[in-house]
Amino acid sequence: MPDKIFTHVPGMKIASEVPVLNADELSESVFHGEYVAHSRPCLIRGAVKHWPAVQKWRDADYLKNRSGQTGVYLYQSVNHITARRLKPKERVCSFAEALDYLNAADTKLGIVSTELLKELLPDLGDIRFLGKTEPSFWYTAARYFLYRNAGTSWHYHPFDETLTCQLIGRKKIGLVSSDPPFDQELCSIFFDEDYYENPAVFDGFDCSKLKWLSATLEEGDALYIPPLWWHGVVPQTQSFGATAAITWRSPLPVIAKCINKLAYDDVYMLGKTGAPGFQALLETARKLGLERELKIAWDRGV
Ligand SMILES: [Fe+2]
Repeated sequence: MPDKIFTHVPGMKIASEVPVLNADELSESVFHGEYVAHSRPCLIRGAVKHWPAVQKWRDADYLKNRSGQTGVYLYQSVNHITARRLKPKERVCSFAEALDYLNAADTKLGIVSTELLKELLPDLGDIRFLGKTEPSFWYTAARYFLYRNAGTSWHYHPFDETLTCQLIGRKKIGLVSSDPPFDQELCSIFFDEDYYENPAVFDGFDCSKLKWLSATLEEGDALYIPPLWWHGVVPQTQSFGATAAITWRSPLPVIAKCINKLAYDDVYMLGKTGAPGFQALLETARKLGLERELKIAWDRGV
């Protein structure tokens, strides 16, 4: 299914596959030691195939009975990062109304991104190779994306580790690290989001200098997305889809690297006023001797 989030970004034409692991063979020590500690993405086949949500959430009536009255923001578009594209497509409604819209055969595009559906939490199961983790700074432990044809334009998470768990439908995720030689030019292209209408914004930009990655998630798979990795998301199936994002706090050396990058590099602290764990981050920065760098990052942030 062609989608501007990928077709207008020339780096996706040269993307190589993210390393693929099998959940049944992946140990906690390998996951954390070889991937999380080095902020190295990986796709874990079958990581959440046993979760009740994989079956139960196909039934819209089940979801309505559980959380139908919860208020949500429904976007009748892809999940844009720029308010000027997203806000005109916003509709505030109940989760039940959003489900009717997302399940309607004539709906072209729609997505709900929410952390409020607490009643659905028991439908998420364990992740054996994850082990015990600390609470995230920036996000709730679980948030949900329910959609029809709609992905998310290129963005990154300033802090926290993420497992994107695919529950219903297939989706493709592109990734590129914000480490050098990533630079301000590409950062501006992604932030402006004009590539969505105008692929010519990439004219003259040498995409080959960066290592672009991609992963296709089938139902039950999970993609590990480290902090400060840009990523864009495109569904590969046209019917109702569901994804859960599980987040946890990064190891201390990764937190230190993130604070320094957000203070001095071509990435910025996004969503700084909405982070529920900012106080915990501040205390961690003090322990790391990076309080000054965190203040710089905050001042540069948006
Ligand atoms: Fe994301």
